[in-house]
Amino acid sequence: MYFDFAAYTPLQRYKLLSSTVTPRPVAWVSTADASGRPNAAPFSFFNVFAEDPAALGFAINHRSDTDRKDTGENVRAQREFVVNLVSEDIVEKMNVTAIEFGPDVDEFVEAGLTPAPCTMVRAPRIAESRVSFECRLMQIVPLGKRRSLVLGEVLAMHVRDDAVLDPARCLIDTPRLQLVGRMQGHHYVRMADIFEMPTIPVDAWTLKSERA
Ligand SMILES: Cc1cc2nc3c(=O)[nH]c(=O)nc-3n(C[C@H](O)[C@H](O)[C@H](O)COP(=O)(O)O)c2cc1C
Repeated sequence: MYFDFAAYTPLQRYKLLSSTVTPRPVAWVSTADASGRPNAAPFSFFNVFAEDPAALGFAINHRSDTDRKDTGENVRAQREFVVNLVSEDIVEKMNVTAIEFGPDVDEFVEAGLTPAPCTMVRAPRIAESRVSFECRLMQIVPLGKRRSLVLGEVLAMHVRDDAVLDPARCLIDTPRLQLVGRMQGHHYVRMADIFEMPTIPVDAWTLKSERA
């Protein structure tokens, strides 16, 4: 079936995109407002894009033209944030932080999460998360009226000790992170079916073709 996006509403396009570009990693973004009050919320329009500078991004779907969600307001005002990753054991806490609370509600308290201090930014990280990235805002790219792509430079990262195989070689035990991804809607996936497939060097491919 062919879908010409010009014929579809934003909600229909969202459904088509978010049910096919999947599983998506979840950025569990923690921020603080000017008074230091913490905030946390998950964003699955998220990925990593570069290493020099190390850059990642997530997209916020604004509630209205003036309400950019608490995360968006805090990122704009403080120009920094933390992206925490979501493991199986804390996925229900993540879900609590997705509730549309007002800015006066501290999601750390509601979800029973522990704010831990960061080194490079004032926003807290989520202590229960096995990986956290301390980020400085690079730019906010408006995507139409209702979305903003937040790009951040990763200044530092925290990884739970037992998931680091060899710090000198930056080797992480990825399966040990037990991360979850978002499928479509309210469905998630676990890291349950990993397989290996090395990239084929062009020389090896050419040699194979010549021999065939
Ligand atoms: C797994 C998951 C992924 C989500 N991804 C996004 C997203 O990519 N963009 C978005 O605007 N909202 C997303 N949401 C909804 C926000 O988390 C929700 O609106 C939240 O209340 C925003 O909180 P805040 O106002 O404290 O920033 C997602 C929710 C869940 C459960």
